[in-house]
Amino acid sequence: MEAYEALITRASPLTLGEPAPDAETELRIIAAALRAPDHGRLRPWAFISIRGEDRLRLGEILASSFRLREPSAVAGAADRERQKALRAPLILVVAARITDNPKVPAIEQIISAGAAAQNIMLASHALGFGAMWKTSPAAYDPIVKEALGLRGSDHIAGFIYIGTSGAALKSAPPIDSATLITGAQGIAASPCQTKRLFRPGARSHPLIAYRLPASSENVYHSGQFGGHPGLCRCSDGSSSSNEV
Ligand SMILES: Cc1cc2nc3c(=O)[nH]c(=O)nc-3n(C[C@H](O)[C@H](O)[C@H](O)COP(=O)(O)O)c2cc1C
Repeated sequence: MEAYEALITRASPLTLGEPAPDAETELRIIAAALRAPDHGRLRPWAFISIRGEDRLRLGEILASSFRLREPSAVAGAADRERQKALRAPLILVVAARITDNPKVPAIEQIISAGAAAQNIMLASHALGFGAMWKTSPAAYDPIVKEALGLRGSDHIAGFIYIGTSGAALKSAPPIDSATLITGAQGIAASPCQTKRLFRPGARSHPLIAYRLPASSENVYHSGQFGGHPGLCRCSDGSSSSNEV
């Protein structure tokens, strides 16, 4: 499947059955995950592959952790948790393994794991398989993390269920892409905020990459751009210097 077609046709199947990707195909899917953007090349990912009988162990973890989280849940609820492990022949648990790094905050490592998970979704689809991304409270439960060999500081980005879709994929309701895009006029910057955002000693403002349209309430004096100090007129009529 062509890459762009895979991007715009991916959807979550309602049911997933056999066959799962075989071991070689699973490695190809993981290879796609490894191309996730990764600040600092930390490789902050863990992929836990669960198939066959091992899914019963995962089901047990889901059921027993559920009982501890929800001791007064109705009868049968824990069993429904257990059954989740059987909803596809292959489950890839994608987690962010967080390391302390002065340049790469944890959020960027989690986002990278999310990108890896999305690459798994797309690679599965492109190779003819279906994939669903689920979390549910289990993903955030320290007991589940520990049982899967993860640390408390790690984050489960998702349980990615992979198999063969039982039916043709439903196309998603159309959204007009243009309605979700805003231009620079949507940015609520005021010269007063600009002044606060200056870092002491900095010669240029980190956000000065665009000019607000003339209709904007916030009037920027040209001297403000390019790192030269100048006067800014705020939307309330007052003026302030952007020098620090
Ligand atoms: C991080 C993340 C966690 C999700 N967790 C769940 C979940 O626990 N249960 C669920 O029904 N859908 C969950 N979803 C949403 C589905 O995977 C799916 O994307 C959504 O139902 C829209 O369907 P589509 O993938 O066909 O567009 C999650 C999605 C993301 C990105």
